[in-house]
Amino acid sequence: MKKMVCILIGMLCLFAATLSACAGDEGKLAGTDASKILVAYFSATGNTEGVAEKIATASGGTLYEITPKVPYTAEDLRYSDSSTRATVEQRDPTARPQIEGSVSDMDAFDVVYLGYPIWWGAAPKIIYTFLESYDFSGKTIIPFCTSGSSGIEGSLVELKAVALAATWGSGRRFSATVSQSDIEDWVNGLI
Ligand SMILES: Cc1cc2nc3c(=O)[nH]c(=O)nc-3n(C[C@H](O)[C@H](O)[C@H](O)COP(=O)(O)O)c2cc1C
Repeated sequence: MKKMVCILIGMLCLFAATLSACAGDEGKLAGTDASKILVAYFSATGNTEGVAEKIATASGGTLYEITPKVPYTAEDLRYSDSSTRATVEQRDPTARPQIEGSVSDMDAFDVVYLGYPIWWGAAPKIIYTFLESYDFSGKTIIPFCTSGSSGIEGSLVELKAVALAATWGSGRRFSATVSQSDIEDWVNGLI
């Protein structure tokens, strides 16, 4: 009888330990109510958009495209030429391309995934416009990007200075072909 009780207690302990380990697997941000998550992105040629859609699926968040008032043409994006629009904007610290429309109820969101392509090692200036358009105090921004090869780090110092009131999560660069399951792992591991 005594042996049975010991075995039973042992099994209960194992069950409790497994439960707490499982709870620990999920990051704090991953537990955020989906209605409080915004996935905002700018994408000129579709790569970042594809990643943003996967993040929205993984997190249950609301997808919002940061749309330029004046769309970028292929010519605007030709960065082998230093006189094209994107390149000129990136060189100009005061450039703030206008955004068409706005997030309808930014107050409703606690967590904002913010996605963009890397342009000349930095975030496109329209991301600066976006950050200056809202009050991010009390919100957590999780930046993500796509690029040819550059990492996200070089873009973050300036972005954080534009939205000092926000809490910034660590960012991540993805390739355009990242899988849904890799995105799920990242989203579920955020703390
Ligand atoms: C103006 C411009 C500048 C770019 N600069 C870089 C760069 O510095 N480093 C890099 O790895 N890729 C660079 N790229 C490539 C883009 O970051 C990459 O193609 C990205 O996935 C495009 O995302 P999108 O399709 O969402 O616009 C640049 C592209 C453009 C148009």
